[in-house]
Amino acid sequence: MQHLRIKSLKEYKETYQKSIEQPEQFWDEVAKSFLWKKEWDTTLEWDFTKPEVKWFQGGKLNITENCLDRHLEKRGSKTAIIFEPNDPKEKAQHISYKELHAKVCAFANVLYNNGVEKGDRVCIYMPMVPELTIAILACARIGAIHSVVFAGFSANALAARINDANCKILLTADGGFRGDKVTPLKSIADEALKSCSSIEKTIVLNRCNLNISLSENQVWWHEELYNVNNKFEAVAVDAEDMLFILYTSGSTGSPKGMVHTCGGYMVYTGYSFLNVFQYKNEDVYWCTADIGWITGHSYIVYGPLLNGATTVMFEGVPSYPNFDRFWQICEKHKVNQFYTAPTAIRALKKHPISMVEQYDLSNLKTLGTVGEPINEEAWHWYDEHVGKRKCPIVDTWWQTETGGIMLSSLAGITPDKATFATLPLPGIQPVLINEVANVIDDVVAQGRLAIKFPWPSIARTIYGNHERYKDTYFSAFKNMYFSGDGALRDADGDYRITGRVDDVIIVSGHNLGTAPIENAINEHEQVVESAIVGFPHDIKGTALYAYVVLYNDVSPSEFLKIEINQFISDKIGPIAKCDKIQFVSSLPKTRSGKIMRRILRKIAANELNNLGDVSTLLNPEIVEDVIKGRL
Ligand code: WT7
Repeated sequence: MQHLRIKSLKEYKETYQKSIEQPEQFWDEVAKSFLWKKEWDTTLEWDFTKPEVKWFQGGKLNITENCLDRHLEKRGSKTAIIFEPNDPKEKAQHISYKELHAKVCAFANVLYNNGVEKGDRVCIYMPMVPELTIAILACARIGAIHSVVFAGFSANALAARINDANCKILLTADGGFRGDKVTPLKSIADEALKSCSSIEKTIVLNRCNLNISLSENQVWWHEELYNVNNKFEAVAVDAEDMLFILYTSGSTGSPKGMVHTCGGYMVYTGYSFLNVFQYKNEDVYWCTADIGWITGHSYIVYGPLLNGATTVMFEGVPSYPNFDRFWQICEKHKVNQFYTAPTAIRALKKHPISMVEQYDLSNLKTLGTVGEPINEEAWHWYDEHVGKRKCPIVDTWWQTETGGIMLSSLAGITPDKATFATLPLPGIQPVLINEVANVIDDVVAQGRLAIKFPWPSIARTIYGNHERYKDTYFSAFKNMYFSGDGALRDADGDYRITGRVDDVIIVSGHNLGTAPIENAINEHEQVVESAIVGFPHDIKGTALYAYVVLYNDVSPSEFLKIEINQFISDKIGPIAKCDKIQFVSSLPKTRSGKIMRRILRKIAANELNNLGDVSTLLNPEIVEDVIKGRL
């Protein structure tokens, strides 16, 4: 696919122009570089009012043939995955394309023997080990739909996701290593399974030797492998068949199971990976995300493997055994492209610079960030100390819903600019929308960020709830996909994301809805109600601040705060715990009873002199009280 790599600014401009003037011809050409079992009949059919988007209809393919089989002849012995374990004393693994192909086929046989068929949903709740990637690809090989649930989620959250997608099989492990902790995945899964009647079988990987026992309908991963060979013909699926479901939080209600389909997702992740990171054939690429999030799906697994790249999978955390772990791994594996989150950069930047400088980072060519806006200081630190001012930084803006990177510079090809995601990728047509829902034509502008034309990896629906998909993304502005983010555009046409404009809060790059957290808190029997807002935090970017109203006969205590956070941790997961919990006598509300988060947000951020007009509140007197009790 190297011929699809854009090699100059001029070529970017021409390619972009063509991609918006003749989108279908453009994507036709890109798609032709992939391996199809049958060519498509229609490139694109769409109607944002329904909404409906279909790419490459009539085409048949299997994405794993593109990730694996296609590379065997030319680069069978090239390393596909470098696995770096949590414990630096444990040996790294190098898995070649040939070996990965064999392992995926073998595990596809295991799934098949356990009753998995095309279209079945398979839930994957696993640590960051190669078997996770193998499991994902094995599902895709069969045409089954994977639903990976991040291994930091609680039993409740896992059960909700299994039930929503009606998963038939669960893949998990005894535990997962993360820094000096072991997450007891199997016991969390067992807890979840008490309320999951759709699961017929659980396949358990032994990662940590935790000495657990299996109950009925649970089998060991390694024992299942005894019975299979490593041949499995890839099942031909339709371009618009589902490839996976991945849950993301919404501003209200339950998590949304975003659905991605096979053909378009393949074309877009393959193409965007190559162009954004400017991957060349012998490079070693490392994305530090977890495969439990979309970043890992698109840019640890699919994007790199589609390009025959070497992709690093790291099981651990940046702080273990020390805060130099990332740089040590970059040196050890001679990493060329390094892709991480602003929150990690901010955390690592707090430590002595010698932590970075003692390592040879001379192989680095491209740096990347994703997940939240990067602040100026962190950007310059990254540029200076990690990239030594010679590595372009790609600030990649995208979402679980977009499947792939939408706005970003192309490393070394289009200019980067601190704190700006910069320009749209070919095929992406962003617009800014003003207060009265009109597209702003001026180049220099600020508004809400929407996309006016479909791209191949747009999520097609929310699993089981197409109405909600329509409401959330296509009802704010006519004939547009609305991202939920605000952005500004400068005189160069570069975009800078200003943050969410809805009730989603990005904490350490994780997308959290306020409503589910409030619901969790409100389930505590001593709590009347609560409101969550974000406030600026030097490492997390934004952290959570909870205002909690207790029943009259309850006295506030530190213990209660711990209990509330434990509640959140049980219902959602530790990532949603609140940094600050303030007990208040009531919450400021509008006359229609809606909580005025705007005011609470300002109080939490200590922006007390422009609270705006509070006179329209139902209970304006409460504002003074809340300010007094501010933490
Ligand atoms: C939200 C999507 C896409 C993978 C990780 C997060 C924020 C993402 C950037 C960036 C500023 C960013 C947005 C977006 N976001 N990348 N480069 N600059 N903000 O996926 O969990 O679906 O979250 O993350 O607010 O809407 P996600």
